[in-house]
Amino acid sequence: MDLAAFRWLLTGPGQRLLTRATELYLEHDGDPVRTADALRRVDDDPGHTSAALTQVDLRSKAVAKFGADAVRMYFTPDGLEQATRPMVAAHRAARMALVRPGGGVTVLDAGCGIGGDLVAMARAGLTVAAVDREELRVEVARANLDALELGGAVQVAAVEGLDVRGFDVVFADPARRTERGRVFDVHGWSPPWSWVVELLERRSCVKVAPGIPHVLLPDRVEAEWVSDQGEVKEASLWSAELAAVRRRATVIRGGGLATLTDEDDPGHADVRPVGRCLYEPDGAVIRAGLVTAVAAGVGGGLVDEHIAYVTADDAFSTPFARSYEVLEELPYQEKSLRAALRERGIGTLEIKKRGVDVVPEQLRRRLALSGDNAATLVLTRVAGKGTALLVRPF
Ligand SMILES: C[S@@+](CC[C@H](N)C(=O)[O-])C[C@H]1O[C@@H](n2cnc3c(N)ncnc32)[C@H](O)[C@@H]1O
Repeated sequence: MDLAAFRWLLTGPGQRLLTRATELYLEHDGDPVRTADALRRVDDDPGHTSAALTQVDLRSKAVAKFGADAVRMYFTPDGLEQATRPMVAAHRAARMALVRPGGGVTVLDAGCGIGGDLVAMARAGLTVAAVDREELRVEVARANLDALELGGAVQVAAVEGLDVRGFDVVFADPARRTERGRVFDVHGWSPPWSWVVELLERRSCVKVAPGIPHVLLPDRVEAEWVSDQGEVKEASLWSAELAAVRRRATVIRGGGLATLTDEDDPGHADVRPVGRCLYEPDGAVIRAGLVTAVAAGVGGGLVDEHIAYVTADDAFSTPFARSYEVLEELPYQEKSLRAALRERGIGTLEIKKRGVDVVPEQLRRRLALSGDNAATLVLTRVAGKGTALLVRPF
């Protein structure tokens, strides 16, 4: 998207064209070609119509992430993709606000993108300032604060060499993508890992990829893995002054939030035979290395030393794992398994696997299922041996 065209979109005539583009989009049931044809009859400047149509399209895509705010906000395609989900950003912002419970906490967002985190921090009552090295993103982030009637200052700047001493907290969410795709090596992030490590020596919080190797985590930093509606998208690193523990798993589901830490973790769990219940820990729990804390919480053990399934005799409802009743063990050998499923009239099968070399879609096809019953099958290693368990969610 073009910077000049975006700036024009924020003017009076630009806002009127955007409103008209939205109306036409709805009138034409979201058909982009008919919407564009109709809009060109309103304004024949291709730069203007393209800027308006791009926002209408991005807003409709952004509803999945930003809900009702999306129709007031502005995006770039990459900026939307990289923006933090609101519930996750709100949780992080609420933790920052605890720095001074009376209010007045100042935060610098060092690399704000289109402002996903920035908006959440401003909403949490933090006094926010932000920079980004890309001018268009700065314009978009600023427009988002305005559109949502939030305060904050946003400027174009590179974070390297920036004087951050005036802020209570510095937040950073380094870019993990280039034109060539996702960057897995932390040294290829922007700003790079060396900058992140230095930043974490002062009061700060850094959003990182959930796959961050534990060995990279600086001493005294808290790593918090967060899952939102079952998906682990990120971890936050909290500098020593903001850290409460070393490892934390935070699970956000529906409107609620639950948190498990290394203080809940005995650090080990026995391997035991499969009992009446099987627990599948949340991805944030697994990433945080807290499966043994789930085992302790349900009074159970592991099905295998290296597998993140917990088993117990008693049924518990826990936000940190999905729980299943184990109905029976079926043959692991494919031919006998097919016969067993036929016998039980199972025509619809959800296949879960952990620690075994199986491609569920391919296996499901080979099993040639038929029947009116639905079931869940867990394929895993139990004490080192391939095992098939027929289970039912509690
Ligand atoms: C992952 S995005 C931030 C997304 C943001 N937290 C959100 O929720 O919308 C990272 C941003 O950092 C910016 N960036 C990368 N390196 C930078 C640098 N050295 N100085 C300033 N900004 C930088 C990029 O332009 C990009 O907009």
